[in-house]
Amino acid sequence: MRTPLIAANWKMHKTVAEALDFVKVAEPHLAAIHKVEVVVCPPFTSLYPLSQRLQGSAIRLGAQDVFWEERGAYTGEISPEMLQEAGSRYVIIGHSERRQVLGETDTVINKKVGNALGNQLRPILCVGETLEERRAGLAREVVQAQLKSDLKGIMVQGSDLVVAYEPVWAIGTGVNASPEDAQEMSAFIREQLSQLLGNGAAGAARILYGGSVKQANIRDFVRQPDVDGALVGGASLDAGSFITIVKYTEETVHD
Ligand code: 13P
Repeated sequence: MRTPLIAANWKMHKTVAEALDFVKVAEPHLAAIHKVEVVVCPPFTSLYPLSQRLQGSAIRLGAQDVFWEERGAYTGEISPEMLQEAGSRYVIIGHSERRQVLGETDTVINKKVGNALGNQLRPILCVGETLEERRAGLAREVVQAQLKSDLKGIMVQGSDLVVAYEPVWAIGTGVNASPEDAQEMSAFIREQLSQLLGNGAAGAARILYGGSVKQANIRDFVRQPDVDGALVGGASLDAGSFITIVKYTEETVHD
């Protein structure tokens, strides 16, 4: 049985003061949640202060990126050890915004996934097709190729790997994938994981849906058998809306 996971990707939003305000509101509500793992991924600057504030809390922290080397002359980069020390257990890798805006390639993403896992950070690996690719009927091929490159040579223990299916056309657009499409792609991703990593790792990996998730649609996604939660952008910035998304997930997986 996989523990459902709801992760907040704050992207480049919230100062330290704003991040602390968010957890002040959210933490008491989320303390009552027991069947859903909750991960907040703030900008790097808020990781340490949040980890101090969240000591003893079930809310976990994740970073939004990591470098592929452990240390060295890499101006501006950050290592898995630094992220761990600052309180992160998870790290988002290969988000489409990094692929598109910063030109991150699958080769780079593969090295980052290896470095994260090798240093006890759980990757939330993002994959997904563009609108043009979907219209051309290439969604599966694109995701298959991403997974194959991003997970090349990777070994995974237990439930350490999280994959987020985030169709690029659904991110920040208000146009979400249909729950049926999310299920179909998640089942396809699990099949691919099984070929790449073996049945054990594929069965234990959490597969999240991301792209315009909100209070109104979360239940339809987490009801799907292969969708184990969500990676939430815009709707995770408001504490009230994020709390509701987590609560609806807990109620739905109880059904
Ligand atoms: P939105 O929820 O704002 O569409 O963003 C999704 C996302 O990119 C999460 O990583």
